[in-house]
Amino acid sequence: MTAIHPISLATWNGTLPAAEQGVATDALEAGHVLFMPELRFELSEAERAYLDPALVGKSKNVSYDPRSGKLGGLNVATMKLDDLRALMDRFATSTRALLATLLPTYGDGLHQAKTSLRPVEIAGRTQSWRKDDTRLHVDSFPSQPSSGNRILRVFSNVNPDGRARVWKVGEPFEAVARKYWDKLRAPLPGERGLLAAIRVTKAVRSRYDHYMLKLHDAMKLDPDYQARFATATHPFPAGSTWVCFTDQVSHAAISGAHQLEQTFWVDVRAMRNPNAAPLRVLESLAGRKLA
Ligand SMILES: [Fe+2]
Repeated sequence: MTAIHPISLATWNGTLPAAEQGVATDALEAGHVLFMPELRFELSEAERAYLDPALVGKSKNVSYDPRSGKLGGLNVATMKLDDLRALMDRFATSTRALLATLLPTYGDGLHQAKTSLRPVEIAGRTQSWRKDDTRLHVDSFPSQPSSGNRILRVFSNVNPDGRARVWKVGEPFEAVARKYWDKLRAPLPGERGLLAAIRVTKAVRSRYDHYMLKLHDAMKLDPDYQARFATATHPFPAGSTWVCFTDQVSHAAISGAHQLEQTFWVDVRAMRNPNAAPLRVLESLAGRKLA
């Protein structure tokens, strides 16, 4: 079972002894969720206006690119965009500081990607099975190949009514991969090049990304697997923050609203134990390089 690894840290610019940093990094790489129950991301009274689901309409979230300062996914044209951008940027900056505290050995191997604000309630939302994140899965981006790099995400529950965000967590990655490996179809000849040529993917999908997507789909489409972990729930209270490799931790978000999230890419070579990376696990099952 995936473990929740609590860390006592109440500020985004905090410090941790080196021994605790090592323990946190090892726990994270072993597929555990680093959980900071007291690490709250504060919103001002005015910023709470951005928690209104009307902000995003049909899209799931507001997205923010910390490098360009661009906002996306907005439904409302007349919002105070500069204030919203400042909020997103403050979260992006805070998560960088947090990871420098928790995982200092990643150094240049850590690359910040998009920031998102998800104001909409998860429970009861109708979604296609593939987009339905209330089903257990590991993350894999269909249009953006990782080429084996890790997907690391920081989540903060900013619900103003004190409601928890509830996750289910499944078993370790290697167990999931072994369970489904024989059922995952290999890429067809020319398939990955064609997807890039017609711009379904932003770059040629690596064999690794192909198998991760197939694994994501196989998990979501298996009712027995979903039922097995029906009671493996964990509430993340309002005012808490958690960090995990979502390409490795079998997870589902089953209820809650109002979350800030920051995605990072991590080079496999920057890890303390690269053999724990899904890339290495799948390569050992495939008996060949996949990215
Ligand atoms: Fe996910």
